[in-house]
Amino acid sequence: MKIINVVGARPNFMKIAPIIDALNDQGQVVHLLVHTGQHYDQRMSQAFFEDLGLPRPDIDLEVGSGSHAQQTAAVMVEFEKVLLREKPDWVVVVGDVNSTLACALTAKKLGIKVAHVEAGLRSRDMSMPEEINRLCTDAISDALFTTDCFADENLAREGVPARKVHFVGNVMIDTLLKHRDRARELGTYSRFGLEPGMYVAMTMHRPGNVDNRETLEGILMALERVSRDIPILFPIHPRTAKMIERFGLSGYVLPHGGDGVKPRFGVWTTEPLGYLDFLNVNMHSRMVLTDSGGLQEETSVLGVPCVTMRPNTERPVTCEMGTNVLVGNDPAKIEEAVRARLVFKPRECATPPLWDGRAGARIVAKLMELGGS
Ligand code: UD1
Repeated sequence: MKIINVVGARPNFMKIAPIIDALNDQGQVVHLLVHTGQHYDQRMSQAFFEDLGLPRPDIDLEVGSGSHAQQTAAVMVEFEKVLLREKPDWVVVVGDVNSTLACALTAKKLGIKVAHVEAGLRSRDMSMPEEINRLCTDAISDALFTTDCFADENLAREGVPARKVHFVGNVMIDTLLKHRDRARELGTYSRFGLEPGMYVAMTMHRPGNVDNRETLEGILMALERVSRDIPILFPIHPRTAKMIERFGLSGYVLPHGGDGVKPRFGVWTTEPLGYLDFLNVNMHSRMVLTDSGGLQEETSVLGVPCVTMRPNTERPVTCEMGTNVLVGNDPAKIEEAVRARLVFKPRECATPPLWDGRAGARIVAKLMELGGS
């Protein structure tokens, strides 16, 4: 049997790593890693390969950035050549980025079986490009690997036959559990002059939060107010950095050199951090403020309070069982939620079923059972 595993953007790398580990352990399957090149900056891509011990991609499509249509189309054109040459039995795609959909669509049209890891997540918000990617990928996948019962219910409601759906747990958490102890000892937070439990760790890159000047300024103003009480460390995504610059909002943030200087209160920006460094910053923070999907899951497992600047989530299990609370992007609500968590101890949280570090192994076992063409 031959499998092509696909990665494209930052959140894909930690999801594919446990599958590659399990394939290597299993030893009988030929597998190739294809990087679409959707993310290409050293800090958005290569740094994760190093941290996670991922093998160098066998094939890099080098598509880079572009509009949604340009990026998706460029991946399809290049990936089709790879599939025609390599003729795999399965293509494994993870998550919900443009590369996920592009590769699933290309494979399916060539009659190659598609496995979607992290299937069935739904925000029911069609203004999110990821929701469109999720719906379309799931609609054409042959094996749908899910992380929780909400995802199983979503797929059942959409009429996906139960025989295609496999509840395996969460590969992102496999990676978290594998690297947690190593990351804990790194002391990354101290490089930024911070003390454990005495800062907020933040990420923000969703178009809904950063692509509109008024929205972005409102959020930055709220953060600036909150940061008079507790410093905020904000490793900044290239999209957000570009927008802050374009809208002339740089006055709300303070660049930190990562030189051990103790930050005054404020919103301190730094370049995107690697996987292990951000995990260190996350696990030692007082709380995380984010619009990411994966961080809602990681904080829930780490027991770190998470305030999510989105009106909805495709990961409701993190609100029901974990530490997550949704606040949207209203500045007053963001400020109120962060302040509340500075004062109150969060409620006890629980880890969702099968988020136990074995999801990658379950996926590979199931693919072996399903077999080649
Ligand atoms: C993508 C995913 C999003 C995911 C995020 C994680 C889609 C639709 N979106 O969003 O789901 O949460 O990745 O980071 O697939 N850029 C760089 N260097 C890079 C990559 C991007 O400078 O290595 C800049 C470019 O200006 C680019 C912009 O960031 O145009 C956006 O990149 P893109 O891949 O289109 O989407 P993300 O916002 O990163």
